[in-house]
Amino acid sequence: MKIKQSEFVISAVGPSQYPEDGLPEVSLAGRSNVGKSSLINKMLLRKNLARTSQQPGKTQTLNYYKINGELGELYFVDFPGYGYAKVSKSEREAWGKMIERYLRGREPLKLVLQLVDLRHPPSAEDQRMYEWLSHYEIPMAVVATKADKVSRSQWPKHVKIVRQTLGMPGHVPLILFSSETGQGRDELWSIILQSAGI
Ligand code: GTP
Ligand code: MG
Repeated sequence: MKIKQSEFVISAVGPSQYPEDGLPEVSLAGRSNVGKSSLINKMLLRKNLARTSQQPGKTQTLNYYKINGELGELYFVDFPGYGYAKVSKSEREAWGKMIERYLRGREPLKLVLQLVDLRHPPSAEDQRMYEWLSHYEIPMAVVATKADKVSRSQWPKHVKIVRQTLGMPGHVPLILFSSETGQGRDELWSIILQSAGI
């Protein structure tokens, strides 16, 4: 989709701060450092709108980005990354509660993109997140990131490991993605627009 404008809206710590305009929301879940913020930037063709860092655990709120495209408007919602060891147990529980409440109760939520690193088999936490989303029948697609770090000839092998480890049925989409090369960007936009009803 051609982007007319994109902007950061709010770092929300709770529901009272979520936007109230009812625009469709597409959320990104995945462990720290998997490439959530980089994916947002690549999708929007912005260099540094969503803040990326080599320091994991940086995004600790639900960060809303509003996108005004030629076909319609929507939000990307960047989640805090899970699996960051240095975060305290109580912080982790607080995030878990916030995300669970959002995922189960957020009416404008149209799609969750679960990001996993193509290079490695999904972690136990990735598996838990996947099972949880499936259990609550939340519309989702799995995005395997950092595809540029795996040679093309190895892609099918890695895709198979991701699908098998998560136990993904064939109808759940898996998109190979790279924020470096733009691999998967068009495919992901078409899935997002379809899910958002745009
Ligand atoms: P948190 O906000 O901590 O949860 O991390 P995040 O999931 O938002 O990860 P982020 O986008 O900040 O990326 C983490 C690191 O991985 C950065 O150094 C990025 O440059 C790098 N990275 C992200 N995506 C890709 C990719 O597709 N290819 C390569 N080669 N590096 C990537
Ligand atoms: Mg981030």
